[in-house]
Amino acid sequence: MAMKYPSLKYRFCGMDFNSPIVLLSGCVGFGEEYTRVEGFSNCDVGAVCLKGTTGTARLGNRPHRIYETPAGMLNAIGLQNPGVNHVVDQILPSLDFSETRFIANVSGSTLEEYAEVTARFDNSPIDAIEINISCPNVKEGGVAFGNIPEMSARVVEACRKMTDKPLITKLSPNQTDIVENARLCIEAGSDALAVINTLMGMAIDIHARRPVLGNIQGGLSGPAIKPIALLKVHQVFQGVCKTHGIPIIGQGGITTAEDALEFLIAGASAIGIGTALFYDPLVCKKINQGVSRYLESKNLTLDKLIGSLELG
Ligand SMILES: Cc1cc2nc3c(=O)[nH]c(=O)nc-3n(C[C@H](O)[C@H](O)[C@H](O)COP(=O)(O)O)c2cc1C
Repeated sequence: MAMKYPSLKYRFCGMDFNSPIVLLSGCVGFGEEYTRVEGFSNCDVGAVCLKGTTGTARLGNRPHRIYETPAGMLNAIGLQNPGVNHVVDQILPSLDFSETRFIANVSGSTLEEYAEVTARFDNSPIDAIEINISCPNVKEGGVAFGNIPEMSARVVEACRKMTDKPLITKLSPNQTDIVENARLCIEAGSDALAVINTLMGMAIDIHARRPVLGNIQGGLSGPAIKPIALLKVHQVFQGVCKTHGIPIIGQGGITTAEDALEFLIAGASAIGIGTALFYDPLVCKKINQGVSRYLESKNLTLDKLIGSLELG
């Protein structure tokens, strides 16, 4: 298919992207859901992140699993997925790799599970592997791996041993020092970072006086978290990625071309779209058009725009 936005073509982590847009994990199933939307074209995105995948199939949390909030949503899906063997054997062969890059999203309850899922994807046509380090560590009291920098790095180390494919670590904002976490993950072998995953929140049904979500707490996403996500991208880019040349997939509440431009200027090399797809499945077209027009009007290239924030 013809290239629609030549100025948006970008090489991310050794992969050719048609656009800096990445469809985010958990928001497009295993890549088959978005293709059914009339008017959607594979050329509108650079890559698609598949739903979080574990060693064996998981049914996920009990309902409710999603809840709309002002300017966002809470989700506690609980990693419902058919298990890595099913994904590799049944789903990957049905995906169209001609225009789009596909990124696996690896999840686990133990270091061994992360390593096992990564090894299985390594032996598959998947283009890259994203590590979702926000999963609870069952061997250490259920604290999310990604909340503690040293624990995050151990996950990256375990996955790095299993693959030479590009490895992207998805950082959690639910921690005190995201820059230190980023640094340790890069030292452990991460080729790129995704910044940020959801922020933990809850909602209460005041009539039943019970938590709305079956899991009590869930991840907050959407425009409500955008200013926080932008700050984290800025901090991680300035604090560590700029000097190490490590690219970032900026994400968290991006819904417009202006949002996307803010993340690119802050230092993201690609931009993730998740929650916005639930209410506007064709939002990527608008973002591509807006970013492309901006570049033209400012006589800039994507390369020059990325990380061009003026400080001081
Ligand atoms: C319904 C739902 C399911 C998600 N599932 C996953 C997942 O399986 N793995 C993961 O790393 N992130 C998951 N996420 C987080 C998103 O990939 C993304 O990082 C986050 O929602 C922030 O971007 P957004 O505000 O554009 O949605 C999920 C988000 C939502 C809304």
